[in-house]
Amino acid sequence: MSIAIPVHDRLFWIGANDRATGLFEELWPMPHGIAYNSYLIKDERVAIIDAVKSFFGVDYLATLKGLLEGKKVDYLIINHIEPDHSGAIRLLREIFPGMQIVGNRKTAGLLADFYAITENVRVVEDGDELDLGRSRLKFILTPMVHWPETMMTFDQAEGTLFSGDAFGGFGTLDDGVFDDEISDTGTYEYEALRYFTNVIGKYSTMVQKALARLSGLDIAMVAPSHGLLWRKDPRRIVSLYDRWSRNEADDGVTIVYASMYGNTERMMEAVAHALSEERVGDIATHNLSRTHISYIITDAWRHKGIVLGTPTYNMKPFPMMDHFIRVMENKGLKDRVLGIFGSYGWAGGALKELTAFGERMKWELIEPVVEAKGAPTADILASCGQLGRNIAARVRQGIPA
Ligand code: FEO
Repeated sequence: MSIAIPVHDRLFWIGANDRATGLFEELWPMPHGIAYNSYLIKDERVAIIDAVKSFFGVDYLATLKGLLEGKKVDYLIINHIEPDHSGAIRLLREIFPGMQIVGNRKTAGLLADFYAITENVRVVEDGDELDLGRSRLKFILTPMVHWPETMMTFDQAEGTLFSGDAFGGFGTLDDGVFDDEISDTGTYEYEALRYFTNVIGKYSTMVQKALARLSGLDIAMVAPSHGLLWRKDPRRIVSLYDRWSRNEADDGVTIVYASMYGNTERMMEAVAHALSEERVGDIATHNLSRTHISYIITDAWRHKGIVLGTPTYNMKPFPMMDHFIRVMENKGLKDRVLGIFGSYGWAGGALKELTAFGERMKWELIEPVVEAKGAPTADILASCGQLGRNIAARVRQGIPA
């Protein structure tokens, strides 16, 4: 069942909590599910802002009809057409055939591509307004946060920013919908960071452009299409997004490693121990064979230092490491310091590829690069310790952007 939650006298949350889907985009784990936030503005004219995934359409319509009390929906505003928000669109059109779909030129193209919908579409430009009666909506085009058509809708009467994916996060809304209903918003902030790094981080430059567009707005509440509604302190999530999209990080190091028989793992322990002795901040250690990269990418975004350790496998980095560096390259994370270590049995090759990866990322390589043939000797472990100390020293100095 889906429920309606009043936000103010004419605005209702009518979203869906998805506790069934295991992976977002069939890629990113959702152990705490996800909410698809949809909003109903019941004014002189009635508008929905973003819908829900098709799976939830029937319950969604029942909730909507209960609230409408016989009224029709005049507008469906699409801030973002990815199917987690637009899947119920055909159902909505069947029930409300006169409903206009509101989006920008890019939205119109994608509506035709995804749903073969070309009629009753109202195309808006950046800065256009839509008057619902008391609510006066203004459209702000924010392309590539996360798709080309993404835009935000600002209710100038109430200061509510309907922001689409931006500022949203994984996790269903169980014990509250608003930030001021949650005693500890830390989990939601972490899940917003994980959503950002996994889904949106690649488009950080475009996020910065979008944030610049918001700087003049008097925002009383941020209402994203996933996760918490931020009304107690809406500027907090905006400032976090600013920091994340600038690739800013805390002191701390993420160690990412793979190990088949424990030799590379022993080297990891020597690096980690040295980092710990240097008290460099948070140290997150991830075995690539055991931890989903969703969480590793998130830690890499949090920390100034990244240390990669891998055995050579068929003259390449271990397959999970090979995958990890490709994903990181695709994400385009900037301004990190890099340490590299690893081992091989009879022929190396992996560390050359990790070094080339660091060069392509323009990350600063910290010496020494440490490689063991077979089991690491005492000298090799001492070099790993030196690598940890050098990384700690560089992280403390700060990374020039
Ligand atoms: Fe929530 Fe980009 O979809």
